[in-house]
Amino acid sequence: MGYKTKEWRNSMRVRLDYNNMTDTFLGDKGFSAKKLSSYSSKATAAFRFVKENRGKDELFMGWTELPYNQKEIVADILATSREIRKKFQYFVVLGIGGSALGPIMAFNALCHLHYNDLPKNKRKGPKFYVEDNVDPVRMRDLLDVIEPEKTCFNVISKSGATSETMTQYLIILDELKKKGVNIKDNVIFTTDANRGNLKKISDELGGIKSYVLPDGVGGRFSQLCPVGLLPAAVVGIDINGLLAGAAYMDGLCKRPQPSKNPALMSAVLQVAAMEEGKNIGVMMPYSDNLKYLADWYCQLWAESLGKNVTLDGKPCNVGQTPVKSLGVTDQHSQVQLYTEGPYDKVVTLLSLDKYACEMPIPHGCENIPDVAFLGGHTMQELIQAENAATAYALTKAGRMNYTLYIPELNAFTLGQLLFLFELQTAYAGAMLNIDTFNQPGVEEGKKATFALLGKAGYEQKKAELDSLPAKNENYII
Ligand code: PA5
Repeated sequence: MGYKTKEWRNSMRVRLDYNNMTDTFLGDKGFSAKKLSSYSSKATAAFRFVKENRGKDELFMGWTELPYNQKEIVADILATSREIRKKFQYFVVLGIGGSALGPIMAFNALCHLHYNDLPKNKRKGPKFYVEDNVDPVRMRDLLDVIEPEKTCFNVISKSGATSETMTQYLIILDELKKKGVNIKDNVIFTTDANRGNLKKISDELGGIKSYVLPDGVGGRFSQLCPVGLLPAAVVGIDINGLLAGAAYMDGLCKRPQPSKNPALMSAVLQVAAMEEGKNIGVMMPYSDNLKYLADWYCQLWAESLGKNVTLDGKPCNVGQTPVKSLGVTDQHSQVQLYTEGPYDKVVTLLSLDKYACEMPIPHGCENIPDVAFLGGHTMQELIQAENAATAYALTKAGRMNYTLYIPELNAFTLGQLLFLFELQTAYAGAMLNIDTFNQPGVEEGKKATFALLGKAGYEQKKAELDSLPAKNENYII
């Protein structure tokens, strides 16, 4: 693997603790060893399915090989990102869904939480923005804070047909033209190698610098390809560390027994819980840096598992609604529901053994015991105590929860988490016998948008929309 020493890598291993899913801690609300072992054959079949189909583009399983097959691409990205850092003041990603959530997640996980507000000499790269909406106010406000001629725009779209991304592109193109900038100097595409509109645009303009979003890699599995790697490298993230972490987790998941494979065990726990009516999966990191990892995970889990037909064509309505929750912030909003509401959730806690810094709590207010006891502790102690206390309170209330312990947050441990969740999703999809890698359910809304904006070829859809019954005014109050 060649990333630091074996000893260091092992000291950075992400660990799964699922005690609080078991009957030892939850009584009759938890899984017995017998219940968990009843999933062995399903789990082994899922393991085999994923193993046998690794790297197959036609099944959208190309993501499994990303930790191993990008040596030249990584070298190119590192060289390009050095140039970008020299030449530009701003770096803006235009993309949506899988083309945006990964870059947002890695930036927040591994950069200063107020990165853009730091003075230039304290930042590792240009100011960084990811625009993943078509709210006009957001676009206006972006244009207020960047200078397009000093900005590198990374347009990320596999299809080049995504209305949101292409709308942003048209606006930026216009801005660059107004400033007399040659688009080739300020724009980088990340897109399909051979198909799609960005490829066409690039060819027409005589070649825009482009990175490939590989064939067998779907949007939500794309963080470890140029979609995520270029933006990460630009802000100084160690992308070799991300890939090494992913490979390390892959190595920890080589065995077919769930008890020896953290991603497979996590999939078993979630699927078994879903089958008992736990329709909600809460992702609760105790780290502001991991707030957007929860967003990224929500897309991965929701879009991959929310399906209405099995692989053999039988109707089904499966999936689990992912919810993001931030520790400790959401202890003061959501945890009441989690401990006393319906028994319909599994909570995944992400716990850091060590934060990037300590923050001592000074002594003070000595005559107010409610406050004085805090003095002499540290913020790390407080957040870790609250994390442990939430796990305890959930368990005491009979609520399923498990913890992923992260030794510290760095590129290597983040890479482990990404690969763990991707594998977990692939295993869970195989156990549910669905196509994990498609997303037919998002198409209807896209078609209706095309029809409403008068796109050629969508006349029938427009007629369908026009034929809806008129709204009953009595129901609008
Ligand atoms: O996960 C997915 O496949 C989606 O979220 C896509 O990433 C998103 O719809 C953007 O698609 P494209 O990259 O074609 O613009």
